[in-house]
Amino acid sequence: MFRDKLPLSNASLTFRDVVLVPGRAVDEPAKVDLSTFVARGIPIRVPLVSSPMDTVTERDLAVAMAREGGVGVIHRNMTAESEVAMVRSVKESPRYSLQYIKVAPEAPVGEALAMMTAANLDSIPIVADDGSIFGIINRSSAISASGRVIDVASKPVVAPPSLGEEAIIKLMREKGLDVIPMVDSEGHYIGSVTYYDLTRGHPSLGKDGNLLVGAAVSPFDLERAKKLSKHADFLVIDVAHADNENVISAVARMVKEVDVGVVFGNVGTYKGAVDAITRIDYLAGLRVGIASGSICSTGVVTGAAAPTLWATAQVADAVLDSGASIPIIADGGIREPGDAVKAFAAGAWSVMMGRAFAQALESPSPVIRVGSHKYKYYRGMGSEGAREARFSLDRYGLKAKNVAEGVEGLVPYRGTVRDIVNYFVGGMQAAMGYIGAMNIREAWEKGAFSLVTSLGWSEVAPHDLFTDVEGD
Ligand code: XMP
Repeated sequence: MFRDKLPLSNASLTFRDVVLVPGRAVDEPAKVDLSTFVARGIPIRVPLVSSPMDTVTERDLAVAMAREGGVGVIHRNMTAESEVAMVRSVKESPRYSLQYIKVAPEAPVGEALAMMTAANLDSIPIVADDGSIFGIINRSSAISASGRVIDVASKPVVAPPSLGEEAIIKLMREKGLDVIPMVDSEGHYIGSVTYYDLTRGHPSLGKDGNLLVGAAVSPFDLERAKKLSKHADFLVIDVAHADNENVISAVARMVKEVDVGVVFGNVGTYKGAVDAITRIDYLAGLRVGIASGSICSTGVVTGAAAPTLWATAQVADAVLDSGASIPIIADGGIREPGDAVKAFAAGAWSVMMGRAFAQALESPSPVIRVGSHKYKYYRGMGSEGAREARFSLDRYGLKAKNVAEGVEGLVPYRGTVRDIVNYFVGGMQAAMGYIGAMNIREAWEKGAFSLVTSLGWSEVAPHDLFTDVEGD
């Protein structure tokens, strides 16, 4: 069913080869429900998954992804102990978002007011260099004042995360606060939480009630998988080409010995998916796509590829024919929200992105300034840089392969995970509106493709004026 949707069904069409055919919408795009399952039995509200890559998903990004309703998969280019510790640290993080916004005691009142306006907050904590909180500056007292913030400070009401969400909400109600600074056990400022985030946020949660998180594993590292499965909500097999006898046998054994579901990948063909589905007792999900990643040089170096859109349709049909209900994560090459919806129309349940989240504040690289521009460092896990770290040996490393299959470079900095998720959610809802689908299941049924040439694509993209809207 899904394979026949793509024009020239045997051609390896990719996201930019096709457009979505508009269909009749029954309601407004803002009402589109994007909720889905990242793996069997694991619901998420936002169908976005961050890649297990060492320049993408570590603790901070995984926490932010879960808080925004998606999920992150911690990479494995580190020791088993470090990966377990990182997963545990996500699990121990508060479920609500903290905004790290503060003003120095000597700053002018005008600066604090401008910050409040920009962040849409009614108060900001005044924080000293050592992290201790001096006081709070409120909009009402600042508006008619001048001079330094310290001169109009009021006594701070703070809370440690250990107080628990219910008690913090009660405290904020009693004191009439819409935002409260949080402190660690030594009284140091760790960020502020708004009443809105506490009461109306929709984080992704595991069965334990804590933030949802996945963890990447090598198919051949059963010991690490067993340890991780005590803490992570699901495991993700992290090999470039999983339709391999050794990989399939190892994972068939692994699923019997770990405590959580295992997502298998990457697969790129109908046959590859059938092999996995028939040989492995219980698949929690399939990670799909070979060589579409933005940092990927596999296709160029080896000439082999299963571009994500084509691969998704292949695997979705294999799942359909098997009669099982196995969530499909379309992985690699997703640049815009429309690409994600094309993946849904080809049978995906969610999409995995590396580049888009490498661009986030919370990704591991520091923000790099070049002139007036800001960038982040991003590399493929098969790049020379990642291969130098010994833990990638069995994915693309020297032990398994003699050539690099990934590149490294800079990507434009794009703001917080929240900014990026909001952009994708708005764009995906709009795209779903155009195809007349109110949820992902309807996108599977209603989404249709039409081939577009590269000349045609240049018309579909902004053209004939001086602009940089075509992409960053
Ligand atoms: P995007 O396009 O979102 O793709 O940056 C991220 C996905 O690319 C895969 N990946 C690689 N593929 N060589 C490859 O062929 C690599 O070095 C490499 N590193 C990551 C991976 O599936 C990721 O989720």
